[in-house]
Amino acid sequence: MTVRIGDTAPDFTAPTTQGTINFHEWLGESWGVLFSHPKDFTPVCTTELGAVAHLKPEFDKRNVKVIGLSVDPVESHEKWEADIEETQGAAVNFPMIGDPERAVADLYDMVHPNASDTLTVRSVFVIGPDKKVKLSLTYPASTGRNFDEILRVIDSLQLTAKFKVATPADWQNGDDVIIGSAVSDDEARELFPQGWTTVKPYLRVLPQPN
Ligand code: BEZ
Repeated sequence: MTVRIGDTAPDFTAPTTQGTINFHEWLGESWGVLFSHPKDFTPVCTTELGAVAHLKPEFDKRNVKVIGLSVDPVESHEKWEADIEETQGAAVNFPMIGDPERAVADLYDMVHPNASDTLTVRSVFVIGPDKKVKLSLTYPASTGRNFDEILRVIDSLQLTAKFKVATPADWQNGDDVIIGSAVSDDEARELFPQGWTTVKPYLRVLPQPN
């Protein structure tokens, strides 16, 4: 099944390293990040899980729950987690779904047969509190993801959910933002009485609202 931006994130019940989870119930009112790993006891995946474990306080600050998946069983994840703690200097502090039957992987189209028939690619889905998919990313097995970039996108998603603004290339939280193109100058005067800079009629820049 293809899962696209704006779709409701498919719900599932699955075993994890923190017990059986019903995904939508587990998300509750939070934002969520669901991300897949090709296989347990593999080098790039080991570094990725360590990176996310180190960043967990940053996800918590943003009210984002993180959950990983690989097509190995939970018992395998539990053994692997000891290696991650030993080699990456952080214990895995979020649930990892065991998906040997590929039930969740297939639901989210995480197995790309022309890459591998059996392993997942590196998928990321960011899900909003309304359970809608806000972002999807797909990386190949050979390239580890940049989880600071996932946090940066979440900052943008959370800001643009609140204000009628958009964020420019390479934006970082606190930088200037852009008035959304659907907002007329009249509406912008009401929304942003502090004003903005018109670089072009379609490119209106203002300090990040809080
Ligand atoms: C890795 O995590 O290093 C990896 C996993 C599956 C295929 C290739 C690399």
